[in-house]
Amino acid sequence: MTSKIITIDGPAGAGKTTISKLLSQKLGIIYVDTGALYRGVAFEIKEQNINWKNGSDLEIFLKSLDLNFIMKNNSLVLMSSGRDISDFIRTPEISMLASLTSAKPLVRTALLDIQRKIAEKQDAVFEGRDMGTVVFPEAEYKFYLFADLTVRAKRRFDEMPEAVKDVNSVEQEMQTRDNNDSQRQIAPLKPARDAIQIDSTFLNIEQVVEKMLKIIEKP
Ligand code: DC
Repeated sequence: MTSKIITIDGPAGAGKTTISKLLSQKLGIIYVDTGALYRGVAFEIKEQNINWKNGSDLEIFLKSLDLNFIMKNNSLVLMSSGRDISDFIRTPEISMLASLTSAKPLVRTALLDIQRKIAEKQDAVFEGRDMGTVVFPEAEYKFYLFADLTVRAKRRFDEMPEAVKDVNSVEQEMQTRDNNDSQRQIAPLKPARDAIQIDSTFLNIEQVVEKMLKIIEKP
């Protein structure tokens, strides 16, 4: 039996994570934040001081990497070699390093299997940048969620005020990440040809989820 997979792609701050969580709860299925995997790679690169721009160093590092998700209180928690690293992967530094290192084909290949294996066993909402285009091109429902940069930056700033200096630096960082993520050679951020695009600039979380549910539950 094949699993029912719903993909949500889009730029940082478009509301993917909150919306994926709520949507998955309403559908009674799990939710997978694939950005966490890329953040996990970046975190370990920093921790282990890996020269990731060097192909063979990166390859050796990726072979030793042991990332996986475990279920805790009904949600998936990222583990690296048995250690819960979820508290360390949300800093601006890790965000940027994840964006840079995720452009490496070796990194993307290393994470592909982990994502597809999760989908083999269960229905899920997968959130990321290339879910509908590369990882799950056959997904049953594909969404592409976006919003104006200023609104996205304000949302992110409101979420983590103590970790950042000002809203302008959040916006600048987001713009740089958007550019990295959408202009890279492999698996760039872009809507799949058959994705349903939703602009969340003037919509709240509930309104977006309602729109998605109407599409998914349409007889
Ligand atoms: O979704 P996020 O902001 O947590 O993702 C962090 C970075 O990881 C993002 O800037 C690009 C990369 N990423 C990716 O390349 N492909 C994915 N499917 C998810 C994230």
